[in-house]
Amino acid sequence: MRIGVDYYPEQWNPQFWQEDADRMAETGVKVVRLAEFAWSVLEPRQDQFEFDWLDTIIRMFTEKGIQIVLCTPTNCPPLWLYEAYPDAVQTGTDGNPIAIGVRGHRCYRSPAFLQRMEIIIDQMVSRYKDNSHVIAWQIDNELEANFCRCPNCQEGFRNYLQEKYQTLEEMNRCYGNTVWSGSYSDWSQVKPPMGSYAKGWYNPGLMLDYHRFAAADTERFVQHQLACIRKHCPDIPVTTNTWFCENHVDFHKLFRSLDFVSYDNYPALRLPQDAESLHSHAFHLDFMRGIKRQNFWIMEQLSGGMGSWSPMSQTTSPGMIKGYALQAFAHGADTIVHFRWRTAVQGAEMFWHGLIDHSNIPGRRFEEFTELCSQAEALSDIANSAYVSRAAILYDTDTDFALNIQPQTDGFHYLQQLKLWHDACLHCGVNTDIISADASLEGYSVVIAPALYITHPGTAEALHAYVQGGGTLILTLRSGVKDACNSCIMDALPTVYRDMTGAYAEEYNPIGWEQQYMEMDGKTYRISQWCDILRANGTKVIASYQDGFYAGKPAVTKNAYGKGYAYYVGTAAERQFYQDFMRTVFTGCGTDCIEPLPLGIEVTTREDENTIFRFIFNNTDKTQHFSLNDKEYTMQPFEMAVERIAK
Ligand code: GLA
Ligand code: ZN
Repeated sequence: MRIGVDYYPEQWNPQFWQEDADRMAETGVKVVRLAEFAWSVLEPRQDQFEFDWLDTIIRMFTEKGIQIVLCTPTNCPPLWLYEAYPDAVQTGTDGNPIAIGVRGHRCYRSPAFLQRMEIIIDQMVSRYKDNSHVIAWQIDNELEANFCRCPNCQEGFRNYLQEKYQTLEEMNRCYGNTVWSGSYSDWSQVKPPMGSYAKGWYNPGLMLDYHRFAAADTERFVQHQLACIRKHCPDIPVTTNTWFCENHVDFHKLFRSLDFVSYDNYPALRLPQDAESLHSHAFHLDFMRGIKRQNFWIMEQLSGGMGSWSPMSQTTSPGMIKGYALQAFAHGADTIVHFRWRTAVQGAEMFWHGLIDHSNIPGRRFEEFTELCSQAEALSDIANSAYVSRAAILYDTDTDFALNIQPQTDGFHYLQQLKLWHDACLHCGVNTDIISADASLEGYSVVIAPALYITHPGTAEALHAYVQGGGTLILTLRSGVKDACNSCIMDALPTVYRDMTGAYAEEYNPIGWEQQYMEMDGKTYRISQWCDILRANGTKVIASYQDGFYAGKPAVTKNAYGKGYAYYVGTAAERQFYQDFMRTVFTGCGTDCIEPLPLGIEVTTREDENTIFRFIFNNTDKTQHFSLNDKEYTMQPFEMAVERIAK
């Protein structure tokens, strides 16, 4: 395990640099990330390059044995660039350039911006290409999908559609453009959604394609930067730091050509006190590892209270800095870079706290960070070991986009659905991967495909083959609703999966926030959001509704199909249901579960040839007492225990 920090030398008087480098080295910092926002200091005027300061700071770090991640500074082009090349500024949905002066305003398709981008990257990469201390490059910062509506981006969208559909007739057919006289008669009429209507008013087919295009365009942008870096540094790993945001990218496609995934990890500072809130970042970590199905990095890790554009949050409570970093490590993050070394004293983010406060006096948080650094050394034998999972949860990007375009019912969120299932697996102590819906399912004894709303022929076939071959599959509400055009499939739900589930929905009731109940094995569970009113059709009924005109009708069913089983869960329930249900499912297919532990105790494993490394994490703010495999544990808030078990 390797610990690093994000550092902004350009924001500090150079008199601090050496002192900071010395302190980092003493503390056990191994990696520093630099320069993602430093363009205006590297090129204060067009073609006037000033790299001496970066040379100096890199030398200071490397003399101390600290390795460097360098970033392309393209998130923040200098103001002179926007002034000289106005088309470098993104255009909003009103057709006007957005206001600049904050960050991230660049258009990924502006020819002038792309040219200046090539030049600054070329300057940087050629300068440091032979520096063996530069161990990775980060492209830009927290890239979003390209939602710019400038003429270049509009044309890009049109070209994307032309290539995809070839003819307007085919595109009109796919979108169902006879509705509201929306048929295109000329390609010039094809535009991204403009104006400020709510998302749900636009044509869903066009909207889904627009999200696909916007995500693909960011991939194109990343490819472009990647080529600029590889031109001089063909062998140095390249990444970009990602996170979940409204206009997020297609994570799986974006990282295909990059060497590793990095994630910006900001877990909860104030833990929810109700038992229904899922605060664990284990979900995000498993998602990030699942993107490339390999270990990953945290490029920004929580170091203190958050704030700045919102009122400040609580500070990290004792144990969080260490515990959350070790949790990320437990899930496969071998390198963890903390955001940030010292809290800024200027700029908009001056209240987003780093490891050291404005006072520059290392305090409680820094002390905990120092302990983390020494603990990291003691865990170095675990780095590169694998997180092996018997269960998988499928995530589909198109489904995520489409459910965002057309929210289904109050309280229903796609990622929240995935989280509930993931939480249940975690509670059973079964390692779980979150993988792309088109990934191979080999080796998994259970696959959960929550709300697989958009249907891709390949995926549906793979799921059939998986169950045929003996796998256990769980399908849920909102599966098989749409085809790839984002049109509804004319069949009883879950349409293309009906032969596997046996049961089908005669009708549904989107109950939103209303609470109803269902019964499974004599136990009653709260349900909300959605009720698929099922006809069992000869399949086994696992749970039934207790309310309304469908009281007594099946809510959850199980069907034997080929050598395997397909479950259908037609409603969204309280947390306890998923835990009880998954325990039965895992036991039924011979996957070992741990005994039920207090909520928030997370048990996961990594392994290498000879050893299983077991991580037991108290992801709560309370001291917890419990027993596991006949051993008694008392764990402090956010404490992590690491055990080595010979294979
Ligand atoms: C993100 C960004 C950082 C910084 C932090 C904290 O993760 O990548 O530049 O803005 O949030 O606000
Ligand atoms: Zn643009």
